[in-house]
Amino acid sequence: MTILRTGLFLILLSVASILAPAMVLAQTNDELIAEGKELYFQQISCWVCHGDDAEGRIGPTISYGPTPMQIQEQLDANPQMAIIVSELNPDADDLVALSTYLSSLSGKSISSEEQAVWRADLAAYIEANEDNTEYVITDRDRQILAIKSFDTVLDDWQKRSKDGPLMREYESTIVAEYDAGEQVFFPEDGGLYFYENTGVSTSRGGVTVVDRINTNQVVVGNATTREIITSKLIPEEMRGSMHTTVMSPDGRYVYMVGPPVAGGGVEGGGAPPGMRGSATMLKIDALTLEPVKQIAIGGRLHHGQVFQDRYLLLDVFVAEPDGLNVFLYDPDMDEVIGGIRASDLGGNNYTAYTDDEFIYVLMQPPAVEGFPGGANQLIVGSATALRPYWVSKLDPETWEVVEEYPHRGYRGDWITIDSASEHIYVPTASSSVNKINTETGEIVWSAPTGVGPYSATLNADESQVWIANKGESSGAIGRTLTVVDANSGRGVATIFAGYMTDHVLLSPNGKEMWATSNGEGRIYVFDAESHEQLDVIDMPHHGDPHGLVWVKYDENGNSLVVRDQGGFHNGIDPAAGIPLLD
Ligand code: HEC
Repeated sequence: MTILRTGLFLILLSVASILAPAMVLAQTNDELIAEGKELYFQQISCWVCHGDDAEGRIGPTISYGPTPMQIQEQLDANPQMAIIVSELNPDADDLVALSTYLSSLSGKSISSEEQAVWRADLAAYIEANEDNTEYVITDRDRQILAIKSFDTVLDDWQKRSKDGPLMREYESTIVAEYDAGEQVFFPEDGGLYFYENTGVSTSRGGVTVVDRINTNQVVVGNATTREIITSKLIPEEMRGSMHTTVMSPDGRYVYMVGPPVAGGGVEGGGAPPGMRGSATMLKIDALTLEPVKQIAIGGRLHHGQVFQDRYLLLDVFVAEPDGLNVFLYDPDMDEVIGGIRASDLGGNNYTAYTDDEFIYVLMQPPAVEGFPGGANQLIVGSATALRPYWVSKLDPETWEVVEEYPHRGYRGDWITIDSASEHIYVPTASSSVNKINTETGEIVWSAPTGVGPYSATLNADESQVWIANKGESSGAIGRTLTVVDANSGRGVATIFAGYMTDHVLLSPNGKEMWATSNGEGRIYVFDAESHEQLDVIDMPHHGDPHGLVWVKYDENGNSLVVRDQGGFHNGIDPAAGIPLLD
């Protein structure tokens, strides 16, 4: 068998080599169309910006069929197409194939005479422009030229974190306790509700805030009718700088950033730099919506989520000198169990996520002179060549770093983990999103998003990833959601949403996408399948929403958190709809 097959192969090979020279000359219109089409739809190629039918997207329509010379002119002069030069680098044959394919879209067939004219024009153009590329190379250019390609980043990666167990402890303290007050929210058995912490900085999107408030509030609504039920303001002297909504796994307490311990008040008094407006956490009764405790946690609370249906995974923006950057918190004992310092991971942390087995931390390169390591340098252009950003994967059993995933693009803003923990999706400040294989670290694809993406969420069957284009670290104000095919990385849709939408989350019944607009103080709700806008929920006083947690009550009136920014909890599977909890 094997011998026979090999023999046949050799015969075919020799026939092909005899025919090969003739084929180049006699390439038919159809062959060129097929070749051009293949080039057009490569991973990083024309379709990304010109659309699947060349109808135009970021770039104009090219379905009229530009000539090879016209394409070459763009490659030479259009900085937005520089990526094509570096990735595809089409030669004359490629350009002829692309032009033939594009011409076919408007029904044109290219004769061999026309082809010859194209080639002659292109050759003449290239010759005429050949010597015009000389320019002075500055020191700065040299630095940029020395930047490695991302492939070498992956190949040369050296572990950034320290080896061994990295767990550190921090003793949180209860600063104050308060009377829970009177019940204002009366949940119904079997009901599904949402909680939303809102801040004071709603500012954009044509919303006139007539009843502007000076403090944070807790909002609770009916997640089925999508109506606000009630809300309560936090006393002004207890206001911190708002960033998240996180609840105890049993849905009985809401956590919110609190004021600094020292000095107090919004200005921060004697608090260390960076701690302004923070450093404590408020524990709020989910039925009275009033604080019951203020707890010093050693840092400025950024985001939080339920961990293993028992604890909370919290991360902070700035930590006190002995504070932790990412840690687990026991909501029953009101204490920090243990966590890590970002410096042990080899850089600065951003947000942390979990699949209930591992903890994934978004990492930024450590500060060096002239570059503090944050993402904001991107706006002012002071950082031309940042070192790579990565995700650090920790095993909370041992507190060791078990994997590091360098990713394309600058600061990662979010991590969405698929239900099998096979892939993570990381949107970055470079207006892109990466899909990374957690087993191999391979980047399956990187795709463009809208401006300054923030959060990402998968739909129920995990065939699409939705990204909120907030405008983060871009100096711009975003107002769209990008929907990307999770398999291929191709754009599926761009959807208009609220200004500065930072979080987009699939609802626990698997049918709706909820998108919180910081700019407008609203939540936009979309049908996950049809992409239609179903509702806009105004936050009381147009407070800017941060987070979003769903709480389900069972038939006996017991509550459980079923969805927060980290994922689905307490046995909820969005693909199955929301089952009753027994
Ligand atoms: C990263 C985005 C991007 C990619 C990828 C890209 N283009 Fe473009 N292209 C643009 C933009 C933007 C313009 C418009 C530039 C302008 O008008 O200043 C453009 C303009 C053009 C034009 C001029 C159209 C006209 O009528 O003025 C042609 C031709 C063209 N592109 C061909 C291609 C081909 C062929 C490919 C793939 C090999 C490609 N482009 C890939 C962004 C892109």
